[in-house]
Amino acid sequence: MLPDELPVPGKPPVSLVPTSDGSFTLLHGEHGQTYHSVHGAFQEARHVFLEQGLCHYVHRNAARPVRVLEVGFGTGLNFLVSAAYCLQHGIGLDYTGIEPAPVPPALLTESGYADLLDLPEHRNAYLTWYPGRETLHLSPAVQLRLTQSSLMQVASFPESDVLYFDAFAPSTQPEMWTPDAIAHAVSALQPGGVFVSYSITGKLKRTLKELGFTVEKPKGAAGKREMIRAIRD
Ligand SMILES: C[S@@+](CC[C@H](N)C(=O)[O-])C[C@H]1O[C@@H](n2cnc3c(N)ncnc32)[C@H](O)[C@@H]1O
Repeated sequence: MLPDELPVPGKPPVSLVPTSDGSFTLLHGEHGQTYHSVHGAFQEARHVFLEQGLCHYVHRNAARPVRVLEVGFGTGLNFLVSAAYCLQHGIGLDYTGIEPAPVPPALLTESGYADLLDLPEHRNAYLTWYPGRETLHLSPAVQLRLTQSSLMQVASFPESDVLYFDAFAPSTQPEMWTPDAIAHAVSALQPGGVFVSYSITGKLKRTLKELGFTVEKPKGAAGKREMIRAIRD
């Protein structure tokens, strides 16, 4: 997500707004922030999380399924772009999302995000499941679990290879970006594992280096110069 400061519209907590690539994002009324970049929600999800995170890992590591942990699951857009890619390329995906406040299912349906999946039965399965407590199996090799909880209230995470860190911006939710919160989030990320986020700050780089990561700065999604990728040594 790009931390675009937008005026708080005084509407319901979340509403759909269009972005530059034709996809929608959600605007959080209280935070005044969008769930993804207004310069392109699909573009950001694909670039930051799928290409710079999951694909980066897959091209360098043979172990399958790829185990992804996402902090700030929201609508599951980052899951959907990842699942679509894995289904198309025959890659096993074991995905866990952490989210204390799922969005209204009707808004998810209206967003059209499920259309990212090729097969109607997969789209229906996702929309019917959201936000499910049971594991969703899109195929024998692609599965999703959602933990409805805040990051710091999750006692332990499943071992993971890729961590999508998609919290609201540090200016809005600084508690998500403290060294303690980041250390907790990466606690089950395996050696060689990849941490990615749209937000790059000096504090986050220092925190990850102190936790034993090598920090990289790939080009950011549209509208952003850089993003962060960090590899666990
Ligand atoms: C920038 S949005 C992420 C959008 C999401 N990845 C998607 O695809 O729709 C940030 C998300 O973090 C969630 N969040 C807020 N506080 C959180 C917490 N303490 N732990 C985990 N997630 C949190 C919000 O509810 C929101 O869904």
